[in-house]
Amino acid sequence: MLSCREQFSYLTDSDLIYLDNAATSQLPISVLNAQQQYWQYAHANAHRGAHQRARSATEAWERCRQTAATFIGANAADVSLQTSTTQALNHLALMLAEQQPDLRKIVVSAAEHHANWLPWQYLAQRCGAEFVVLPVAVESGEIQQWQQLIDSDTDLVAITHVSNVSGVINPVEEICRHAHKQGARVIVDAAQSAAHLALDVDQLQCDALVFSAHKVYAPVGVAVMYLAADWWPQLTPQIRGGGMVAQVTPFSASWLPDIHRFEAGTPNVAAAVGLTNALQWFAEQAPHQAQVEQSFNWLQQQLAQRPWLQRVAANTSRRIPLLSLYCESIHSQDLAFMLDEAGIAVRAGQHCAQPLLQQLGLSSVVRLSWGLNNRDDDMQRVVDALDQAYQLFIE
Ligand SMILES: Cc1ncc(COP(=O)(O)O)c(C=O)c1O
Repeated sequence: MLSCREQFSYLTDSDLIYLDNAATSQLPISVLNAQQQYWQYAHANAHRGAHQRARSATEAWERCRQTAATFIGANAADVSLQTSTTQALNHLALMLAEQQPDLRKIVVSAAEHHANWLPWQYLAQRCGAEFVVLPVAVESGEIQQWQQLIDSDTDLVAITHVSNVSGVINPVEEICRHAHKQGARVIVDAAQSAAHLALDVDQLQCDALVFSAHKVYAPVGVAVMYLAADWWPQLTPQIRGGGMVAQVTPFSASWLPDIHRFEAGTPNVAAAVGLTNALQWFAEQAPHQAQVEQSFNWLQQQLAQRPWLQRVAANTSRRIPLLSLYCESIHSQDLAFMLDEAGIAVRAGQHCAQPLLQQLGLSSVVRLSWGLNNRDDDMQRVVDALDQAYQLFIE
């Protein structure tokens, strides 16, 4: 059996150190192979035909739903497959605009990705609801005042499990418990937590949870959207088309009684095959997560010895292996360019999280995000490249 690292051997062949896993993770060889097999031998339209290939495409789609449900501790009947976290959250916002036009108060945190901010900002404007932003502590990256600001006027809380800029883990379980006591529903954006934390919707007690496949070693084009069983039957799908109707007449339409009602249009079965395989592969890699942590911790220690380089949310250990850096004397794009020249892929900019950067008083940061493709002996090269940038721009 190949070691975890060898599963990405095509990366190391090129000497690339890929530290942009939070944007999109690379695909292990087994996921690539599963997709190739699908394209060659099983590619067809799911839920549409009775021939053998169509049946196997349908089975592949449903297998993905089941695997994703197991991954988050949900019942498959409550899991729909969407195309991305962004699309799923927008779909949800549109459904709520129809179902609850009298929403009073929506709460998000300052740490949200735009994908978990803009749909709720829109929803608040459309419903005339109050849009309340939980502040984030600059030093620790922890969200604050949620016990006070999520109150009995709150109908909806949309919160990221993990910030895509600081890597800080939010106390979503406690937030769900508190929000439910206030009568509010909670939507969890698990885009960054799915590849790093065990997800269990029963334990979290959230009302919705979404994540994209492409951040958990699977291809782009499919995402998981869990909706609580006491919620989704009240929601009217806002993306309409083939595969989700019970009956259509010239003047009316009715929707399937099950979760398929949220999956209009031809499903991306190839991506679903990739996700099924990736989640199975990922479960087998659990012992290797410790190595990822080790390599992350080693780099953190090295960075702590370089005061010219600042870390976002430096005062917390409650984070996934993800670090955002900034330096007064070097623009983050220049730093990312230097790293790229050394064969190290990172991301610089605002990371679709402008409200957070505004709160932190930063214009851009360089993000290093770990995955199972990273290992200890890569990290010295990262440190060397950062030191070279220091010599070039500062010394
Ligand atoms: C926390 C978070 N939420 C949502 C998204 C949006 O994911 P996607 O672009 O796959 O829709 C991202 C992507 O980076 C993210 O990090």
